[in-house]
Amino acid sequence: MSTTPNPSVTITNLESAFAGESMAHIKYRYFAKLARAAGAEDVAKIFEATAEQEIMHAFGHLDLLYPKHLLTPAKSLEIAIEGETYEYTEMYPKFRHLAVKEGNSAAVAEFDEQIAESKEHADAFRRTLEMAAKRFAALAKVEERHANHYRAALAAVQDAVRV
Ligand SMILES: [Fe+2]
Ligand SMILES: [Fe+2]
Repeated sequence: MSTTPNPSVTITNLESAFAGESMAHIKYRYFAKLARAAGAEDVAKIFEATAEQEIMHAFGHLDLLYPKHLLTPAKSLEIAIEGETYEYTEMYPKFRHLAVKEGNSAAVAEFDEQIAESKEHADAFRRTLEMAAKRFAALAKVEERHANHYRAALAAVQDAVRV
C-alpha cells in the first residue's frame, strides 16, 4: 500500500493490521448474511455490530498510514488508480495463470471478472481525476485573474499617491 521503498516496521505492521481489520469487517458481514439466511438472527446481529467496529479499527490505522493533511482528493484518486491498476495488470493475471495451471476453472472465471472490474474502477477513477484536475486548473485561473485585478488596483492607488 505504501509507496515508500523501505517502510518502517511499524508502517508494515499498520498495513497488516489494516488488512486484518478490513478482512474481519467483510468476513463478519458475510457470516451475518449466511446466519440470517439460516434463521439465526441473533448471530447475524452480533456479526453486523462487530463488523461496524472493525471499520473504526481500520480507519484508525488509515489515519496513521495516510495522514489527513497529506491526503488531497487528487492524491487519494492517484493511490486508488495505482491499486486498481496493480490488480488488473499484475495481481489477477498472475493468479489467473496459476489457477489455469491448477485446473480451477471457477477461480479462473472469478479472476477474469475481477480483472474486468478492476480495470473499470481504474478508468472511472482516472476520468474523475482528469475532471477534477480541469476544475483545479479553472479555479487557479480565476484566482490569477483576481490577483491581476488587485495588482492593477494597487498600482492605480500607488500612482494616485505619487501624483
Ligand atoms: Fe478489530
Ligand atoms: Fe476495485
